[in-house]
Amino acid sequence: MTIKPRLAPTDDLRPGEVALGVEPAAGSASLFFIGRIFTPWATRGECPRRGDLAGPLCRVDIAEPWREALFGIETCERLQLLYWMHLSRRDLVLQNPRHGDRIHGTFALRSPVRPNPIASSIVVLERVEGSRLFVRGLDCVDGTPLLDIKPEHCPRA
Ligand SMILES: C[S@@+](CC[C@H](N)C(=O)[O-])C[C@H]1O[C@@H](n2cnc3c(N)ncnc32)[C@H](O)[C@@H]1O
Repeated sequence: MTIKPRLAPTDDLRPGEVALGVEPAAGSASLFFIGRIFTPWATRGECPRRGDLAGPLCRVDIAEPWREALFGIETCERLQLLYWMHLSRRDLVLQNPRHGDRIHGTFALRSPVRPNPIASSIVVLERVEGSRLFVRGLDCVDGTPLLDIKPEHCPRA
């Protein structure tokens, strides 16, 4: 199957929309790191295997050009964060997890070791301070790049 790159955004802007006018390179799935996550864990070994909604407070700093994209986020109680496991190797198809007792295919695991090391967690949004989000529920190393934020539960919207 051939996937043709789309060279430029073709969708018209609707009233009130704001675009930054940046594009990923043609023919690739380039990602923007939209911010960085700050946690109490300096190494992979110190991180919990999965986040805990009652876990320690972590800080998510949104990079300058994307700050406006936080508009309305304070209406959310829970968010889904997608982040880039930058310390992972990306070439394993079979894995022998440290806490497991047998071999698994990479796509049968939530291991950070995968071809595109994208992780996701549902987090509780405790508060917003400008371009900083304070959340609970993460499981990543201090300094992990942030890929995206999606609303999960926004009762005040
Ligand atoms: C099992 S993964 C789960 C990630 C995410 N919650 C998910 O389900 O997609 C969490 C583990 O990834 C490892 N890890 C955390 N931050 C990482 C990073 N920046 N790069 C590579 N591995 C990381 C730690 O060992 C942590 O316990």
